[in-house]
Amino acid sequence: MVSVGVNFGLDLVAEIKALKNERRAVILAHNYQVPEIQDIADFVGDSLGLSFQAAKTDAEVILFCGVHFMAETAKILNPAKRVVLPDLDAGCSLAESCPPEKLAQFLEARAEKDYYVIAYINCSAGVKALSDVICTSGNAEKIVRAAPVDRNILFVPDQNLGAWVIERTGRPMDLWQGNCYVHIEFTARSIGAIHAEYPGAPVVAHPECPYAVRLLADEVCSTEKMVTFCKESPAKEIIVVTEAGMLHRLKKEIPGKLFIPGPTDRCACAECRFMKMNTLEKAHAALLHLEPEIILPEPLRRRAEAPILRMLELSR
Ligand code: 13P
Ligand code: SF4
Repeated sequence: MVSVGVNFGLDLVAEIKALKNERRAVILAHNYQVPEIQDIADFVGDSLGLSFQAAKTDAEVILFCGVHFMAETAKILNPAKRVVLPDLDAGCSLAESCPPEKLAQFLEARAEKDYYVIAYINCSAGVKALSDVICTSGNAEKIVRAAPVDRNILFVPDQNLGAWVIERTGRPMDLWQGNCYVHIEFTARSIGAIHAEYPGAPVVAHPECPYAVRLLADEVCSTEKMVTFCKESPAKEIIVVTEAGMLHRLKKEIPGKLFIPGPTDRCACAECRFMKMNTLEKAHAALLHLEPEIILPEPLRRRAEAPILRMLELSR
């Protein structure tokens, strides 16, 4: 039986572990989650890794510690499971920048283009349902290279990731003008200044960063590939240009190196307010009450599932 009398005097982590077993739950967490959430998760990773984990889990409940579109993706892949998110308001500025109705209008107004729509996973189920294939920062290049050569591509919603993939592949694409409010805060000035302080340190940056920042980077990649890059680099000091939650995993898995958060012009590091809405207390409550739960109308779920499955197939 699940203990319903919450006693926050008891060790919250122990309570979560006990509840997790009783609920037959799995805890998936994104690399930007607060350290205490990362530390209780069964799997911590980037959007691609989390999608694969969600697709293969046999748990009855998925506690998804990330933002809404990530938990929604887990639900799309697991219609029979309960998917709960610690805070239902944990959204994403990129997902918000591309409402499905606007995309539908855009496509209708340009029907002659017969777009092949590639949607970055940071979008709603409604946008996924209008897309041909999904990609993440970890596989965007591969997905674009696999697109039919005779089709015009529309890439939504991140203009920076889209521009980076164009640079890498040479494939022209029309780009939706959305962006991540966290990553566009990094500037050539802020990253140039920290590099001047640590001249020997390589710079690793997320592709959601603007062009001028990507130009200063030694490596541009997904958060998961940042872990690999930092492990393999002989450098003892590395500048990490992404959301600051990333540093917890890097410090934990790669002791002995110094990870310097990329600053913005206003702050010493950048935090995503949506990712930080999830707390250990909310994660505990979500496991206890099995809500807030992600619910999707079945026809929408089915339409959104096809492009995600196509992505998983192309990424194996
Ligand atoms: P990753 O898939 O690289 O972890 O990126 C997710 C994200 O939201 C970046 O802002
Ligand atoms: Fe969305 Fe940016 Fe937050 Fe990632 S960091 S979840 S892209 S708002």
